Amino acid sequence: MVQLNNSNATIKLSTGALIPQLGLGTWRSTDEEAYNAVLHALKAGYRHIDSAAIYKNEGPVGKAIRDSGIPREDIFVTTKLWGTQHRDPKFALELSLKRLGLDYVDLYLIHWPVAFKADGFTTDEQFLSIPENPDGTRALDWNQEDPEAGWNFKKTWELVQDLPTTGLTKAVGVSNFSVNNLKALEAAGLKTPSVNQVELHPLLPQNELIKYTKEKGIVIEAYSPLGSQDSPLFTNKTLKVIADSYGVSNAQVLINWALKRGYVVLPKSVNPARVEENFKVFGLKQEDFDKVTNLVNEVGEKRLIVPNWSPFPTFE
Ligand code: A2P
Repeated sequence: MVQLNNSNATIKLSTGALIPQLGLGTWRSTDEEAYNAVLHALKAGYRHIDSAAIYKNEGPVGKAIRDSGIPREDIFVTTKLWGTQHRDPKFALELSLKRLGLDYVDLYLIHWPVAFKADGFTTDEQFLSIPENPDGTRALDWNQEDPEAGWNFKKTWELVQDLPTTGLTKAVGVSNFSVNNLKALEAAGLKTPSVNQVELHPLLPQNELIKYTKEKGIVIEAYSPLGSQDSPLFTNKTLKVIADSYGVSNAQVLINWALKRGYVVLPKSVNPARVEENFKVFGLKQEDFDKVTNLVNEVGEKRLIVPNWSPFPTFE
């Protein structure tokens, strides 16, 4: 058994703000689960909560933050812009803040570089949906033949990049952006996002993206760092041998591997014991770190979260 400590590391964003390196993910959590998980996480020492409008649990997430009794300024809160509101991100952020019951968030991200058609939408139910065409395909607000003519993520970012001036969010960034999509923002002369949140675990190590974002001062955040629901990594034998040698779980090895790689890590759990377990850091030896890094060569690369935004080339 190794010495386990609560995580207290932070990373500096391009704004100068400090972001706690380990945060709680809240995707696929029901209202009750989200409320209890966030409250429990904050009691256990977490100071970073990652949410999104489309998770449809901003209400209970915000209530747990408010009920925790922890000063608002001591908690780093993120939420995300859904595709139905790319043409008016300020309004979308105002709605998110209303649901959260907060005056501001610390970070607001474009959730995906994909906008949806949302003509005439006015209700939460409409905004927090994935609109479809009559033939069942996704109703993208994007002109495939001439992306410059239609709406596109560069236009969304042009609006989002200035949101910190409203005071509604302290920093802004993107999520699920590829190197090419980040380069497109730069080529358009737009501001550099503070953050890019992406799927990131040993089977999808994102080395090229990490190298690029490091050069540009963009902080990477890892979602699904455990390999998501029913993760193949929970039963991986190489990981299990490493985990057993420290007396920890596979999940803890995965989180500590990610922390050692130097980016923000956002494991999701609604189970109180696992929420606590995931917050513990220990010294992962270089040789074990290298074995985890090498897993992708043993098992093969695997992207686990692949929503159908066809024909938009999300990951190229
Ligand atoms: P649960 O919420 O019931 O704990 P990811 O963060 O990669 O998306 O992974 C989330 C998944 O991993 C969820 O299904 C979550 O279930 C599960 N999980 C989270 N922490 C642990 C842990 N320490 N051990 C095993 N499973 C975990």
